[in-house]
Amino acid sequence: MSDRKYILGIETSCDETAAAVVADGREVISNVIYTQIPTHTLYGGVVPEIASREHVLKINQVIKKAVEDAKVTWDEISAIAVTYGPGLVGPLLIGVSTAKALAYAKNIPLVGVNHIEGHICANYLVDTGDLRNDESQDKDSDLINEITPPYMCLVASGGHSHIVRVDDYTKYTIIGRTHDDAAGEAFDKVARAIGLGYPGGPKVDKLAREGDPSAIDFPRASVGDSKYDFSFSGIKSAVLNYLNGAEMKGIEVNKADVAASFQQAVIDVLADHTIQAALDYGMKTVALAGGVAANSLLRTTMKERAEAKGLRFHCPELIYCTDNGAMIAAAGYHEFASGRRADLYLNAIPNLKIGER
Ligand code: KG4
Ligand code: ZN
Repeated sequence: MSDRKYILGIETSCDETAAAVVADGREVISNVIYTQIPTHTLYGGVVPEIASREHVLKINQVIKKAVEDAKVTWDEISAIAVTYGPGLVGPLLIGVSTAKALAYAKNIPLVGVNHIEGHICANYLVDTGDLRNDESQDKDSDLINEITPPYMCLVASGGHSHIVRVDDYTKYTIIGRTHDDAAGEAFDKVARAIGLGYPGGPKVDKLAREGDPSAIDFPRASVGDSKYDFSFSGIKSAVLNYLNGAEMKGIEVNKADVAASFQQAVIDVLADHTIQAALDYGMKTVALAGGVAANSLLRTTMKERAEAKGLRFHCPELIYCTDNGAMIAAAGYHEFASGRRADLYLNAIPNLKIGER
């Protein structure tokens, strides 16, 4: 048996049933993701009860494949890491119950992982080559596998938008947060308003490439005196007002211009607040995490603006930005190394906070 530590990561907090095996918190040995997006697309968003049922149907197969693909035996797995919050309670419970059953049956230590901390730990992941496909090739992240705390991380997903100071592998301090919608939620709502469907982020990203980002001057909102916080409900309303106004006047809108101008406004705020936080707190590196970190303009804008200020920039490979089991295994590795263990009373905590233990 090698002295590498293999962690099995399990993720079911929303609409992806995912499992992966990661060695030493960095090297992805296997990564299996079953996405429920085609099912939820029929309803225009995630339906929690349907998500739970789909997780029940798929979880055993997904875990089995992750272990088989990794070519490890159960004896070689040092710990099972599972997302226990934040997220949808039904979906979370499927992952937590399955992880507990496996930990008990196979006599393997269990570690509970915070989903958002998992997104941050996606920055440490590197795949061994054979898992790469064309889409996951990402030339922006030349620092891959070199990033170490401390650094300032923007976490932007469908449910969360935070600026987090990563003090150490298991120590996080929230520096900024959204006061209303999450960035990904704003992408999803604007996408729906311009008829692009769910999930909106990737579709807005694509359409925006054909539009003019300076066509419409949408507001760049800041929130009172908390200079690192966000508010995205104002810009979402501004887009809806713009669309309604055009409709009432019988003017045809250029959807690509709306997508590009909206995206530019959101990204200006995300990038500027994160970089300002990094500078003010004396960080030398900024990083991205969460589904919105897959946005092509956010990646290039953050890199350019960070480097212009003398900061290093890092982002996870595209495939590790949206929900996956590898990021949970990476976070679980560090929790496990710090001595943290969950018992069979581990429960789902839908509103679990970053840094809460
Ligand atoms: O992290 P994630 O997979 O799930 C949550 O934890 O919420 O993030 C999903 C969110 C969705 O709101 C989706 O629209 C957004 O990430 N997203 C994007 C892109 N890809 C995914 N937003 C902007 N541009 C993208 N390319
Ligand atoms: Zn997520």
